[in-house]
Amino acid sequence: MSIEELESVAQAMVAPGKGIIAIDESTGTIKKRFDSVNVPNTEENRRAYREMLITTPNLGEHISGAILYDETIRQATKAGVPFTKILTDAGVIPGIKVDMGAKPLAGFPGELVTEGLDGLRERLAGYVKLGAKFAKWRAVITIGEDTPSGTCIEANAHALARYAALCQEAGLVPMVEPEVLMDGDHDLDVCYEVTEATLRSLFGALYEQNVMLEGTILKCNMVVSGKDCPDQADVDEVAEATIRCLRSAVPASLPGIVFLSGGQSDEDATAHLNAMNQMGPHPWPLSFSYGRAMQSAALKLWGKDMQANYGEAQAMVHLRAKQNGLAALGQWKKGG
Ligand code: 13P
Repeated sequence: MSIEELESVAQAMVAPGKGIIAIDESTGTIKKRFDSVNVPNTEENRRAYREMLITTPNLGEHISGAILYDETIRQATKAGVPFTKILTDAGVIPGIKVDMGAKPLAGFPGELVTEGLDGLRERLAGYVKLGAKFAKWRAVITIGEDTPSGTCIEANAHALARYAALCQEAGLVPMVEPEVLMDGDHDLDVCYEVTEATLRSLFGALYEQNVMLEGTILKCNMVVSGKDCPDQADVDEVAEATIRCLRSAVPASLPGIVFLSGGQSDEDATAHLNAMNQMGPHPWPLSFSYGRAMQSAALKLWGKDMQANYGEAQAMVHLRAKQNGLAALGQWKKGG
C-alpha cells in the first residue's frame, strides 16, 4: 500500500462526525466486563455479544472503524457472515489489536512494557488477508509515587515505533496508543506532565523508526485528574489541559487523534470531547475510540436479557455513537 492509500484510510478513520468503537478486549478483559453483568465468558457468548454490537442498524452513520481482537476478526454471525464483511458492508473499517498485552517491566517494579514484536510481521500479513486496514498497539504508563520512569516511557515508545513501522510495511495504518492510566490520587498537572513526556518520547521514536506520520493515527488518554484525587478538574479544565498538551507534543502532520475513555463515565467522555472540539479549530480532527464509554450501557441491557433487550441494546450503541459523533463536531448538548 502506498503512503497515499495509508493516508486515505487514516483520514477516513477520523472523518467529520465519526469515530471508532473499540471492541478488542482480550479474553481476560472481556471476562471482567461479562462478570459485571453475570454473563459466562464462553466463546459463543463473546461471538453473540460482538454480533449484537456490529449489526447495530446504521452503525456506519457515526462510526468509521471498529477495533477487533484476534478471536473476533475470525468470527461470523450466527447466519455465517464474517464479521469483517458485516463491518465493510456497513461502511465501517475493520481494525485489529496486535499487541500481546502489557507485562511487568523487569527491574522496574509497578511498571509495564507491552509485548508482541516477535513474529509480528507474519501476524500482520495474516490480518491483512482477513481484511484489516488498521492495527492498534496499546502501551500502559502508570503514575505512582516514583513512576513512570524514563526507562518505562522509552521502552514503550520504542516498541510502539517498531510496531508502527511494521504496520506501514504491511499496508496497515498504525493506531499508536500510549495510555497514561487514570489510577491514582495525582492531580491534573501530574497527568499533564506524564502525558506530555510520553507523547514527546513516542513521536521521537516514530521519527527514528522512519514511521510516516501522514499514515498514522494517535490514540491517547485525555489529561484528567487521577481517579482518587480529591480535587477533580472540571470539563473545561480537562479540555483545555488536553489541548495544550497535544499542541505541545503532537506534530501537525498527523491526520487525527482519537481518545480512549479509560474509565471515565459515558457522559464525561462525551462532554470532554465536545468541549475540546468547541475550543477548535485544532491542527488535527479530534474524535473518539471508546471501548467502555461506547459499550457499557448496551452491555448492561444485553446482559440482563440477551433476547428481549437485543434491539434496545443496539439502540443504545447507536445513541452513544451519535452522541460521541456530535461531540467530535463540538455539537453535543447535555441531555441531548
Ligand atoms: P476504553 O475506552 O474502555 O478505555 O477502551 C479503549 C481501548 O481500546 C483501550 O485500549
